[in-house]
Amino acid sequence: ALITMRQLLDHAAEHGYGVPAFNINNMEQGLAIMNAAKAVDAPVIIQASRGARKYAGDLMLKHIMMGLVEMFPSIPVCMHQDHGNNMGTCLSAIRHGFTSVMMDGSLEEDMKTPSDYDYNVDVTRRVTEAAHLVGASVEGELGVLGSLETGEAGEEDGSGAVGKLSHDQLLTDPDQAVDFVMKTKCDALAIACGTSHGAYKFSRKPDGEILAMSTIEAIHAKLPDTHLVMHGSSSVPQYLQDLINAHGGKMPQTYGVPVEEIERGIKMGVRKVNIDTDCRMAITGQFRKIAMEHPDEFDPRKFMIPAMAEMQALCRDRFERFGTAGHA
Ligand code: G3H
Ligand code: 13P
Ligand code: NA
Ligand code: ZN
Repeated sequence: ALITMRQLLDHAAEHGYGVPAFNINNMEQGLAIMNAAKAVDAPVIIQASRGARKYAGDLMLKHIMMGLVEMFPSIPVCMHQDHGNNMGTCLSAIRHGFTSVMMDGSLEEDMKTPSDYDYNVDVTRRVTEAAHLVGASVEGELGVLGSLETGEAGEEDGSGAVGKLSHDQLLTDPDQAVDFVMKTKCDALAIACGTSHGAYKFSRKPDGEILAMSTIEAIHAKLPDTHLVMHGSSSVPQYLQDLINAHGGKMPQTYGVPVEEIERGIKMGVRKVNIDTDCRMAITGQFRKIAMEHPDEFDPRKFMIPAMAEMQALCRDRFERFGTAGHA
């Protein structure tokens, strides 16, 4: 059944687990997520970016989601807009059946420029007021995702922010977080703690210098009842880098967020964990493998079936490690 993010995260908080939010753009990613959820009896958040809506079309995405919900009646699903950039994006998502939206006011509408605090409060408050009138949930974001190693924003919304960011911008301030949640009444808060979008998060296995789990702990201490969201939470597993590179890929060595750090985060109030890159790598790794091992193959299903299986295994692992399994 389709449920809201608020319903799901309230349950997760009560029972001390985290919920992965996997991005989708097509049917195959949807089937991989739902088959994994079914296998371990887990609820899930399925999210679509603005890019996904453009890629598949709003109506196609809506019907993919509805098809998945109908095919897997025992699995609670929240359908979430990832990184909404303005009121229009959020309201049109709700109109197409999304039960939850992210209003990302940490950046201006262009999704490149870090915004003023007052702008962020104002736009998030207005979206929350409207969404709540029609029963949808809202995620806000305070702080800009980006690397504490380089000060680069990485690929927030795929477009890349301008200029170097300071530690002040890259780490959410706990006192400001209290003020933000009070003023906006958002249902969940995305925080910045040194993670960034995409595969190239860290140049080495992260420690507390470059992945500030202590920031999450400090926010949770001041906002114990707020559902925290970790973006850029792919672990960029070595086995998937190796799978891609063993079959003609050229990904430079890189490091993501270790799953055990996310497990620690879940103990500190993280309830929604955003993962896109790992799923992309699972799919691409199998595409490359099939293409290399069977150069005569041209039936797309012969690529899609192993790709879905690889992604499904990854999703299942996250449901198990985040404690989501068994809570459907
Ligand atoms: O926010 C980042 C997600 O990975 C979505 O990426 O905008 O390329 O669909 P996208
Ligand atoms: P990754 O690029 O680490 O998968 O992060 C995805 C994300 O935060 C989507 O909002
Ligand atoms: Na989101
Ligand atoms: Zn994100």
